[in-house]
Amino acid sequence: GRVAVLMGGTSSEREVSLDSGRNVLEALQSRGVDAHAVDGIPALVDALVHGKFDRVFNILHGNKGGGEDGVLQGLLDALEVPYTGSGVLGCALSMDKIRTKQVWMSAGLPTPRFERLAVGADVRAAALRLGLPVFVKPSSEGSSVGVARVVDEPGIDEAIRVATQYGGEMLMEQMVVGDELTVPVLGDVALPSIRIVPKQGWYDYNAKYLADDTQYLCPGLEGAQEDAIRALALDAFRAAGCSGWGRVDVMRDRNGALQLLEVNTAPGMTSHSLVPKSARTVGVEFDELCWRILEQTLG
Ligand code: DAL
Ligand code: MG
Repeated sequence: GRVAVLMGGTSSEREVSLDSGRNVLEALQSRGVDAHAVDGIPALVDALVHGKFDRVFNILHGNKGGGEDGVLQGLLDALEVPYTGSGVLGCALSMDKIRTKQVWMSAGLPTPRFERLAVGADVRAAALRLGLPVFVKPSSEGSSVGVARVVDEPGIDEAIRVATQYGGEMLMEQMVVGDELTVPVLGDVALPSIRIVPKQGWYDYNAKYLADDTQYLCPGLEGAQEDAIRALALDAFRAAGCSGWGRVDVMRDRNGALQLLEVNTAPGMTSHSLVPKSARTVGVEFDELCWRILEQTLG
């Protein structure tokens, strides 16, 4: 049947999604799939109403028309159109960093201490309770959009100003000093972790997509530690109600303790992105990876 590769959309990650989408489209077409690009949810609905597609490869990133927050998934469920990735619950929860962390805490899974910054919250008091440095994040953005690191008290106001621009809720999270890792999940297995070593500072939007000097080590850890991070990622993915594929971001502190940051239910598939890098190390080339994700909609 015909496959819509859904990309673009209206979120802050539109450009990243177009990049991911073009790669996925090309890969599926090279495997002989009758795949077509569709930009955004309204265009998809229009095409589906006219019976143009049988299934959807969702590579939209982000919330608010971004297609990674459960809204699209509910729509497709109602229309009985199969799609890649997690369902309504997993997407809606994972798009919300605050509630994802709450679910993990209640499941006994490790995640850095944080405070939800309600409107009018005393942000200085929150920073004091958590201890600097901290990250201030919009709860529902991706690709580090709107995220700022705060190292001293004067930096707090600027971080809040940046995060506020994206509307919605914000959180302040204790910064874990140590290694930044991520674990792709494909079907029922966790793929090798990747350790990310930005040339300077932390893995922000620039280091993710623009810089060419960010270093990636895969597998990110060795032996029992690598086994542990993969097992934790799989637990975290399932606890968040996710399925199909995704990527779990994890920090490892100086003592080797792992701390969960978030789940991405439609991870980037750009040339800089991490899921393809990890898959390649276990012999799954990009075309094959896209095929395996699409295959999950055939069941
Ligand atoms: N949110 C971006 C696309 C990622 O997690 O890869
Ligand atoms: Mg994310």
